[in-house]
Amino acid sequence: MVAGPNHMTNWDAKYAAAERGLFGEEPNEYVREILARSDFRARSALCLADGDGRNGAWLAGQGLAVTAVDLSEVATEKARLRDRAAGVSVARITADLKDWIPPEGAAWDAVFLISLHCQQEVRNRAIRIAADALSPGGWFVIEGFAKAQAEAGNAGPDDPDILYDLAEIERAIPEFLVIEAFLGRTLLDEGKRHRGHAEIVRFAARKPSAG
Ligand SMILES: C[S@@+](CC[C@H](N)C(=O)[O-])C[C@H]1O[C@@H](n2cnc3c(N)ncnc32)[C@H](O)[C@@H]1O
Repeated sequence: MVAGPNHMTNWDAKYAAAERGLFGEEPNEYVREILARSDFRARSALCLADGDGRNGAWLAGQGLAVTAVDLSEVATEKARLRDRAAGVSVARITADLKDWIPPEGAAWDAVFLISLHCQQEVRNRAIRIAADALSPGGWFVIEGFAKAQAEAGNAGPDDPDILYDLAEIERAIPEFLVIEAFLGRTLLDEGKRHRGHAEIVRFAARKPSAG
């Protein structure tokens, strides 16, 4: 199924219509890959655009202290139910990343931004705000559909403005040490909406340590 431009997407309606997790019940593969790294030792995480919570709840189950933000009230409510069923606690906030500001003094060891497809301006702001809220040495992990996916029609949005470009991410956080930057094709199996071959970006970088 192809979504329209994000600013026209009614996320509440999409989540309300979904009987189960809109993007499946399992956490995103890249999130799992990052957690399995020997050099990933984060103890707290901020999940931006966490939707109905498959990633945030899973990370909390791995022992991280998780804060999650999403625009959709319906998704956030479903995520809370998921957390309860999993026996975990996640600090969930319903907010629009176009103007969300992290609580004063908050800092996280990792930020996960998985499949946030919104206007470039909002996306870049979210990346910058989260980067500033990372602890020194903290991890920024991003996955999203690449610009090349606009024409594909099998998964993800079709508006290039809300799709990802690696250079744009690197420009948003130039001080970060890039650990991995992937642009290419993968086989997705995440619910009904993210299924099949797709052009994606995967990006992981670390904030420089202080001093
Ligand atoms: C494709 S879903 C991905 C959800 C989740 N990250 C996952 O992997 O299951 C995109 C999510 O971005 C959220 N979103 C879109 N625009 C947003 C914005 N401006 N601020 C906060 N969340 C937003 C939507 O509500 C939706 O839950």
